[in-house]
Amino acid sequence: MKQISITRYGDTDVLKIQEKNDPEPSAGEVLINVKAIGVNFADILARKGLYPDAPKPPCVVGYEVSGIIEAAGQGVEPSIVGQSVLALTRFNGYSDKVCVSEKNVFAIPAALDFERAAAIPVNYLTAYQLICVMGGLKKGESVLIHNAGGGVGLAALDISMHLGATTYGTSSAGKHSFLKERGLNHPIDYRNQDFLASIMRLTNGQGVELVIDPIGGKNWKKSYKALRSTGRLGMFGVSTVTESKMGRLLQFARLITQMPWYNPLGLMNANKSVFGVNLGHMWNERDKIAEWMQEILNGVEQGWVRPHVDRTFPFDQAGEAHAYIEARKNIGKIVLVTGR
Ligand SMILES: NC(=O)c1ccc[n+]([C@@H]2O[C@H](COP(=O)([O-])OP(=O)(O)OC[C@H]3O[C@@H](n4cnc5c(N)ncnc54)[C@H](OP(=O)(O)O)[C@@H]3O)[C@@H](O)[C@H]2O)c1
Repeated sequence: MKQISITRYGDTDVLKIQEKNDPEPSAGEVLINVKAIGVNFADILARKGLYPDAPKPPCVVGYEVSGIIEAAGQGVEPSIVGQSVLALTRFNGYSDKVCVSEKNVFAIPAALDFERAAAIPVNYLTAYQLICVMGGLKKGESVLIHNAGGGVGLAALDISMHLGATTYGTSSAGKHSFLKERGLNHPIDYRNQDFLASIMRLTNGQGVELVIDPIGGKNWKKSYKALRSTGRLGMFGVSTVTESKMGRLLQFARLITQMPWYNPLGLMNANKSVFGVNLGHMWNERDKIAEWMQEILNGVEQGWVRPHVDRTFPFDQAGEAHAYIEARKNIGKIVLVTGR
């Protein structure tokens, strides 16, 4: 088998292919012959040493794959072998063969190819938790989706449209026409305009009921201000941390000084709430994950879940895939294909 290892913290050249013996599934696991691997922003943060959840290098990251089950461990129904599946992998996903618990494996709906199947788990589960579970978005409400052109952003757009909400989204201007075609009601060029002023203008000074914000730092303060009464702010990332050229510790220190601190009395009086989402820390909540995934896969069948793969890169070009995302070129998902 082959894996892409982060050999040390650094630029894309620290990603190296290594060969190993094929893994064998333990009891309760399956071995997947991997066809496609979803690339996530967290993988880039891990490579740069900015993702505390990731294992220390040398390590193999990767949260999601799709492929064909090649072998089943003890206690797993053998007829599962040969099935096309998508799977959550807590690291080790950048591999052309991987073992995972059968509980983290889901059959791919007939409508999906392997590339689009690999684009589903992290983006749609995160968006589902943000929008439906913790954000409680309802028909007739409004939502501001930051990074609307990213993988989670497009998933959040699909779900919000399905619920019947009015959608506002920030992204680079070059992504606006695509986002409008996808159904976004109000794109905002947050890199050249003050998004808070834009939201207030577009909502006649009221604000929105839900904001989902993966930018972090001082952006969270502004997002909170964009909420109307009963509004909820979902915080789920710190993309801003990659923008500075400072050392790792200084980058974190800067981030912390920019973060808002929420006061319970202030929240009460404003009739607002704030919450956080980290899908990587939901690993022990498999029943919830399975239930959400079922809703999402039903959405594929019904047509409102539309995973969008911007580009695929061959397995040995993971560095190019990272660079493409870091240069903000992607709209939706970037996927590595193994050629298996
Ligand atoms: N907590 C969780 O469970 C969870 C799960 C998944 C993702 N996340 C977080 O959500 C965020 C988006 O993830 P994703 O996988 O959807 O991302 P993605 O598809 O890789 O999207 C990247 C996009 O983010 C925007 N962006 C904003 N700040 C950026 C920066 N400093 N450098 C590069 N791009 C930047 C760019 O869009 P524009 O050109 O429009 O600016 C870029 O195209 C990340 O912070 C990620 O860590 C969190």
